[in-house]
Amino acid sequence: MSPEAIEHVRSSFARLQDDLGGTAALFYRHLFELAPQARPLFPVDMQVQGDKLMSMLATIVAALDRPDDLEALFADMGRRHVGYGAREEHYDAVGAALLRSLDEALGPDWSPEVEEAWSQVYGEMAEAMIGGAANPDPPGPAATSGAA
Ligand code: HEM
Repeated sequence: MSPEAIEHVRSSFARLQDDLGGTAALFYRHLFELAPQARPLFPVDMQVQGDKLMSMLATIVAALDRPDDLEALFADMGRRHVGYGAREEHYDAVGAALLRSLDEALGPDWSPEVEEAWSQVYGEMAEAMIGGAANPDPPGPAATSGAA
């Protein structure tokens, strides 16, 4: 990603800090509208799940200038998501729900440049997660588990 795109993602994510829970709630509302078949994969109470999602996004946003670290993180996440029941066809709905929730949460700060930068982040994340899911036994050190 270009330094400008990284800056668009970081500055827009920083604007969400006061209401991360609200953004997470918007995201899951859109996801379950777009892909109702994914709802049973998640717990009934989505509060903790929303916190995990936003804390993972914070980790990703902080690491955007370390693509090798991100690649490994995404591949590991993709492998964990196989166990959650996530499938390749869910990723488009997750991406659309993410962009919609950011659009609503950011309002006038959702510029075409910010949208393009987040689309790029999501595209890279989804591609690497799907790649990781297809490769359950990576070479090298053992994969970590949990929301690291
Ligand atoms: C590509 C972006 C995605 C991100 C950033 C993301 C993030 C996370 C995080 C941080 C967790 C907590 C556990 C962990 O870290 O392993 C999690 C769990 C989970 N995710 Fe994702 N996820 C993504 C895509 C998906 C997709 C495409 C699905 C498919 C429906 C999905 C379904 C789930 C489910 C079912 C859980 C476990 C819920 C539970 O039982 O606690 N995720 N996700």
